Amino acid sequence: MVKAVVLGAAGGIGQPLSLLLKACPLVDELSLYDVVNTPGVTADLSHISSIAKITGYLSPDDGLKKALTGANVVVIPAGIPRKPGMTRDDLFKINAGIVRDLVQGIAENCPKAFILVISNPVNSTVPIAAEVMKKAGKFDPKRLFGVTTLDVVRAETFVQDITGEKDPSKTVIPVIGGHSGETIVPLFSLAKPKVNIPADKLAPLIKRVQFGGDEVVEAKGGAGSATLSMAYAGFRFAEKIIKAMKGEKGIVEPTYVYLPGVNGGDVVAKENGVDYFSPSGAEKANNILSELDDNEKELLEVCVKGLKGNIEKGVDFVHNPP
Ligand code: NAD
Ligand code: LMR
Repeated sequence: MVKAVVLGAAGGIGQPLSLLLKACPLVDELSLYDVVNTPGVTADLSHISSIAKITGYLSPDDGLKKALTGANVVVIPAGIPRKPGMTRDDLFKINAGIVRDLVQGIAENCPKAFILVISNPVNSTVPIAAEVMKKAGKFDPKRLFGVTTLDVVRAETFVQDITGEKDPSKTVIPVIGGHSGETIVPLFSLAKPKVNIPADKLAPLIKRVQFGGDEVVEAKGGAGSATLSMAYAGFRFAEKIIKAMKGEKGIVEPTYVYLPGVNGGDVVAKENGVDYFSPSGAEKANNILSELDDNEKELLEVCVKGLKGNIEKGVDFVHNPP
């Protein structure tokens, strides 16, 4: 039985993500939680004739506890999005506390669930989630993921403009590092099948993947950030987790994790000097790093510098609350 939960289910990402999970035949039960509007979203989705039984809760009356009890996959898109001119780190002030409290709920009600963190700044909210789980004595690094799939999806899509591939999702492009600007490092040299990118087009392509989020924030002009493409990406990642839970082997998807706790990650952590990082599939992390070209190595250096501060800020928030 798979029980999936969406925390922040009434939001711009939460609603389409909940729709995709409701329609997914691998989900037996779907529970929605938000501080507003969950009853309406739940009633609406409940008319869809798919397998998943749906329930929805608001915050009073133990809503979080009821939503989380029995969960094995919890996706968290709760929190405020950016407006033009803001960085993801500007969201920390509000979203850090939201993620901390929701993860505390997970520690108390479904500590063995897979936790998929979407709320920004992911580079910091994942360390926050880890520290909360550690404090509760429930941390399993193999069950905590920062969702960076949108960066992978963007890399697949934007490279298609150059290669003309008919189906962009057929090109596998590792994207490593974190999830904000220069901490996002797409590795086009390691694309499979190989892609030929003219020298003058490579730097703008990398930049577009790194700052793809800004493109959407600007286009929405104050009405939020990516929601529909994020719901697609979040569902793609959640579906892979569910398939892995059900025993499917060979699933590789970049995601931001606590490196020392995942296979091969301790070596990458030592090499880079950061504990949180998205390797390209934990088991292959080491091989991939040794295969980077010179330009990618430079990008990685910048990435790691940025990540260090973001990680420290998240860890510190849990141990020395403001
Ligand atoms: P939104 O404002 O449309 O929705 C957020 C929802 O969270 C709202 O419904 C709100 O009521 C709810 N919420 C707030 N506090 C809550 C709490 N304590 N418990 C439960 N729910 C709560 O925002 P959005 O566009 O859906 O974005 C959500 C987050 O996802 C933002 O932080 C955004 O930056 C992030 N995001 C991440 C990625 C990524 O790639 N990881 C991509 C896009 C957006
Ligand atoms: C994105 O990459 O689209 C998200 O992280 C949202 C944002 O703030 O850019």
